[in-house]
Amino acid sequence: MSEQATARKSLTELLPAAAIKAIDVFVAKYPSDRKRSAVMSSLMIAQENNAGFLSEELMDAVADYLEIPHMAAYEVATFYTMYNLKPVGEHVINVCTNISCMLRGSKEIVEQLNKKLNIKFGETTTDNKFTLKEVECQGACAGAPMCEIDKVFHENLTPESINEIVDNILAKSTASADKAEG
Ligand code: FES
Repeated sequence: MSEQATARKSLTELLPAAAIKAIDVFVAKYPSDRKRSAVMSSLMIAQENNAGFLSEELMDAVADYLEIPHMAAYEVATFYTMYNLKPVGEHVINVCTNISCMLRGSKEIVEQLNKKLNIKFGETTTDNKFTLKEVECQGACAGAPMCEIDKVFHENLTPESINEIVDNILAKSTASADKAEG
Protein backbone atom coordinates (compact mmCIF):
# COMPACT_ATOMS: atom_id res chain seq x y z
CA MET A 1 0.00 0.00 0.00
CA SER A 2 1.45 3.30 -1.02
CA GLU A 3 1.59 6.54 0.92
CA GLN A 4 1.56 8.51 -2.31
CA ALA A 5 -1.67 10.29 -3.01
CA THR A 6 -2.79 10.05 -6.63
CA ALA A 7 -5.93 12.13 -6.97
CA ARG A 8 -7.36 10.47 -3.91
CA LYS A 9 -10.58 11.68 -2.42
CA SER A 10 -10.65 13.20 1.03
CA LEU A 11 -12.71 11.72 3.82
CA THR A 12 -15.26 14.50 3.50
CA GLU A 13 -15.74 13.52 -0.15
CA LEU A 14 -16.01 9.82 0.64
CA LEU A 15 -18.38 9.90 3.60
CA PRO A 16 -21.70 11.65 4.26
CA ALA A 17 -21.65 14.74 6.48
CA ALA A 18 -23.32 12.85 9.34
CA ALA A 19 -20.47 10.33 9.40
CA ILE A 20 -17.86 13.08 9.47
CA LYS A 21 -19.75 14.68 12.34
CA ALA A 22 -19.74 11.36 14.21
CA ILE A 23 -15.97 11.03 13.66
CA ASP A 24 -15.45 14.59 14.88
CA VAL A 25 -17.19 13.68 18.15
CA PHE A 26 -14.51 11.04 18.78
CA VAL A 27 -11.67 13.28 17.61
CA ALA A 28 -12.82 15.99 20.04
CA LYS A 29 -12.38 13.60 22.96
CA TYR A 30 -8.60 13.68 22.62
CA PRO A 31 -5.94 16.42 22.63
CA SER A 32 -5.17 17.71 19.12
CA ASP A 33 -1.80 15.92 19.10
CA ARG A 34 -3.48 12.62 20.04
CA LYS A 35 -5.92 12.24 17.17
CA ARG A 36 -4.52 8.77 16.60
CA SER A 37 -6.60 7.66 19.59
CA ALA A 38 -9.74 8.14 17.49
CA VAL A 39 -8.57 5.78 14.75
CA MET A 40 -10.58 2.71 15.82
CA SER A 41 -13.87 4.59 16.09
CA SER A 42 -13.18 6.53 12.90
CA LEU A 43 -12.45 3.37 10.91
CA MET A 44 -15.62 1.75 12.24
CA ILE A 45 -17.76 4.75 11.27
CA ALA A 46 -16.10 4.81 7.85
CA GLN A 47 -16.79 1.09 7.39
CA GLU A 48 -20.43 1.43 8.40
CA ASN A 49 -20.83 4.15 5.80
CA ASN A 50 -19.16 2.19 3.02
CA ALA A 51 -21.35 -0.92 2.65
CA GLY A 52 -19.57 -2.60 5.56
CA PHE A 53 -15.96 -2.59 4.37
CA LEU A 54 -12.82 -0.48 4.29
CA SER A 55 -11.12 0.14 0.95
CA GLU A 56 -7.50 1.26 0.85
CA GLU A 57 -8.64 4.69 -0.31
CA LEU A 58 -10.96 4.97 2.68
CA MET A 59 -8.29 3.88 5.17
CA ASP A 60 -5.90 6.42 3.69
CA ALA A 61 -8.54 9.12 3.91
CA VAL A 62 -9.23 8.30 7.58
CA ALA A 63 -5.49 8.47 8.29
CA ASP A 64 -5.17 11.80 6.47
CA TYR A 65 -8.16 13.18 8.33
CA LEU A 66 -6.57 12.23 11.65
CA GLU A 67 -3.17 13.44 10.44
CA ILE A 68 -1.51 10.10 11.11
CA PRO A 69 0.54 7.85 8.78
CA HIS A 70 -1.49 5.59 6.50
CA MET A 71 0.28 2.63 8.06
CA ALA A 72 -1.23 3.46 11.46
CA ALA A 73 -4.72 2.98 10.00
CA TYR A 74 -3.74 -0.23 8.16
CA GLU A 75 -2.27 -1.68 11.35
CA VAL A 76 -5.53 -1.27 13.22
CA ALA A 77 -7.75 -2.36 10.33
CA THR A 78 -5.75 -5.52 9.68
CA PHE A 79 -5.34 -6.48 13.34
CA TYR A 80 -8.97 -6.45 14.48
CA THR A 81 -11.43 -8.88 12.91
CA MET A 82 -14.30 -6.40 13.18
CA TYR A 83 -12.92 -4.54 10.18
CA ASN A 84 -13.66 -5.90 6.73
CA LEU A 85 -11.06 -5.24 4.08
CA LYS A 86 -13.13 -6.47 1.16
CA PRO A 87 -16.80 -6.16 0.23
CA VAL A 88 -19.16 -8.17 2.42
CA GLY A 89 -22.73 -9.35 2.26
CA GLU A 90 -25.70 -7.59 3.80
CA HIS A 91 -25.20 -9.51 7.06
CA VAL A 92 -21.84 -10.57 8.44
CA ILE A 93 -21.92 -13.67 10.64
CA ASN A 94 -18.93 -13.53 12.98
CA VAL A 95 -18.48 -16.95 14.56
CA CYS A 96 -16.16 -17.22 17.55
CA THR A 97 -13.99 -20.33 17.41
CA ASN A 98 -11.78 -19.49 20.36
CA ILE A 99 -11.24 -21.90 23.23
CA SER A 100 -14.53 -21.68 25.19
CA CYS A 101 -16.62 -21.69 22.03
CA MET A 102 -14.54 -24.48 20.55
CA LEU A 103 -14.99 -26.63 23.66
CA ARG A 104 -18.72 -26.04 23.58
CA GLY A 105 -19.36 -26.90 19.96
CA SER A 106 -18.46 -24.00 17.64
CA LYS A 107 -17.33 -26.61 15.07
CA GLU A 108 -20.90 -27.88 14.72
CA ILE A 109 -22.18 -24.32 14.38
CA VAL A 110 -19.67 -23.59 11.63
CA GLU A 111 -20.52 -26.85 9.85
CA GLN A 112 -24.20 -26.02 10.00
CA LEU A 113 -23.55 -22.57 8.52
CA ASN A 114 -21.27 -24.02 5.83
CA LYS A 115 -24.04 -26.41 4.85
CA LYS A 116 -26.92 -23.96 5.07
CA LEU A 117 -25.27 -21.07 3.28
CA ASN A 118 -22.93 -23.07 1.09
CA ILE A 119 -19.98 -20.84 1.99
CA LYS A 120 -16.81 -21.14 4.04
CA PHE A 121 -15.05 -18.59 6.23
CA GLY A 122 -14.18 -15.46 4.28
CA GLU A 123 -16.85 -16.10 1.64
CA THR A 124 -20.13 -14.39 0.75
CA THR A 125 -23.30 -16.07 -0.49
CA THR A 126 -24.09 -15.65 -4.17
CA ASP A 127 -27.18 -13.58 -3.31
CA ASN A 128 -24.89 -11.27 -1.29
CA LYS A 129 -26.99 -11.77 1.84
CA PHE A 130 -24.39 -13.31 4.17
CA THR A 131 -20.65 -13.25 4.75
CA LEU A 132 -19.16 -15.78 7.14
CA LYS A 133 -16.19 -14.79 9.29
CA GLU A 134 -14.17 -16.53 11.97
CA VAL A 135 -13.38 -14.31 14.94
CA GLU A 136 -11.47 -14.46 18.18
CA CYS A 137 -13.01 -14.36 21.65
CA GLN A 138 -15.81 -11.82 21.82
CA GLY A 139 -15.85 -11.70 25.62
CA ALA A 140 -19.07 -13.71 25.81
CA CYS A 141 -17.52 -17.02 26.85
CA ALA A 142 -20.26 -17.69 29.39
CA GLY A 143 -22.66 -17.97 26.46
CA ALA A 144 -20.40 -20.15 24.31
CA PRO A 145 -20.71 -21.12 21.56
CA MET A 146 -21.67 -17.76 20.18
CA CYS A 147 -21.69 -15.57 17.12
CA GLU A 148 -22.35 -11.93 16.41
CA ILE A 149 -24.56 -10.77 13.57
CA ASP A 150 -25.35 -7.13 12.85
CA LYS A 151 -24.03 -6.14 16.29
CA VAL A 152 -26.28 -8.66 18.08
CA PHE A 153 -24.72 -11.47 20.11
CA HIS A 154 -26.35 -14.89 19.76
CA GLU A 155 -25.25 -17.20 22.54
CA ASN A 156 -25.56 -20.85 23.60
CA LEU A 157 -25.94 -21.73 19.96
CA THR A 158 -26.96 -25.13 18.67
CA PRO A 159 -27.09 -26.18 15.01
CA GLU A 160 -30.90 -25.81 15.25
CA SER A 161 -30.80 -22.33 16.80
CA ILE A 162 -28.29 -20.93 14.29
CA ASN A 163 -30.48 -22.30 11.53
CA GLU A 164 -33.46 -20.51 12.99
CA ILE A 165 -31.52 -17.26 13.46
CA VAL A 166 -30.43 -17.26 9.81
CA ASP A 167 -33.98 -18.08 8.67
CA ASN A 168 -35.37 -15.21 10.73
CA ILE A 169 -32.89 -12.74 9.27
CA LEU A 170 -33.75 -13.92 5.77
CA ALA A 171 -37.48 -13.64 6.47
CA LYS A 172 -37.07 -10.10 7.80
CA SER A 173 -34.96 -9.05 4.86
CA THR A 174 -37.49 -10.50 2.39
CA ALA A 175 -40.34 -8.76 4.22
CA SER A 176 -38.60 -5.39 4.14
CA ALA A 177 -37.73 -5.84 0.45
CA ASP A 178 -41.40 -6.62 -0.29
CA LYS A 179 -42.46 -3.55 1.70
CA ALA A 180 -40.04 -1.35 -0.20
CA GLU A 181 -41.38 -2.65 -3.52
CA GLY A 182 -45.04 -2.55 -2.71
S1 FES B 1 -14.21 -17.97 23.41
FE1 FES B 1 -15.94 -17.47 22.26
S2 FES B 1 -16.71 -15.69 23.25
FE2 FES B 1 -14.93 -16.19 24.38
